[in-house]
Amino acid sequence: MFKSKWDQKYAAAPEGLFGTSPNEYVREIAARSDFTARTGLCLADGDGRNSRWLAQAGLEMSAVDLSPVACANATVLDKSAGVTVSRVAGDLEVWRPAGGERWEAVLLLYLQAPETVRLSALRIGWQALCEGGWLIVEGFAKAQAGAGDDLGPGSPDLMYDLDEIEACLPKADILQALSGRVQLDDGGRHQGLAHVVRFAARKT
Ligand SMILES: C[S@@+](CC[C@H](N)C(=O)[O-])C[C@H]1O[C@@H](n2cnc3c(N)ncnc32)[C@H](O)[C@@H]1O
Repeated sequence: MFKSKWDQKYAAAPEGLFGTSPNEYVREIAARSDFTARTGLCLADGDGRNSRWLAQAGLEMSAVDLSPVACANATVLDKSAGVTVSRVAGDLEVWRPAGGERWEAVLLLYLQAPETVRLSALRIGWQALCEGGWLIVEGFAKAQAGAGDDLGPGSPDLMYDLDEIEACLPKADILQALSGRVQLDDGGRHQGLAHVVRFAARKT
């Protein structure tokens, strides 16, 4: 009855699959003095903790996720938080913004999907940015596949490396391109020290 494993996971966690607090890297970028984005698009936004937090901070937010259950949960949580986020269920292998819409920030947090989908999401995000707009990415690094714990999706094909990100964004003005170990505190599921990539760039 569920269309994907993600639908099943979100149906079991209406209170927030990765908690209700935003990801730490999102907080860090949003706190920068030069981050002045007024509109944002969260790709693979799940049940919306990041887009909701940015909407609460005053940005006009849009979001896309594969799972209609995640989008429905997100809308309920948005309402409780007193914000509105424009949400759509879509597959980032094929989804494109309607009418060529552009945003001042695009965020891609923890999309765990095969390379074709991950690269498609990065290209869609880059294309959807206004000039000067920010692309912000965090996800498990391929090194996490050999970490010997149960954090992350297991297969390196579902994880990131910086070369791959930079290769598909040739004209990016890179602000941060980091790969290392970070203590994650994202709800009950992403807890502990993990290999991640963090990438922030502006479109020139
Ligand atoms: C680990 S969750 C992260 C959710 C959210 N970004 C967060 O940090 O709370 C991965 C999300 O990617 C979404 N996803 C997986 N494949 C996708 C695809 N092809 N298109 C769009 N979203 C996808 C899943 O539905 C899920 O919500």
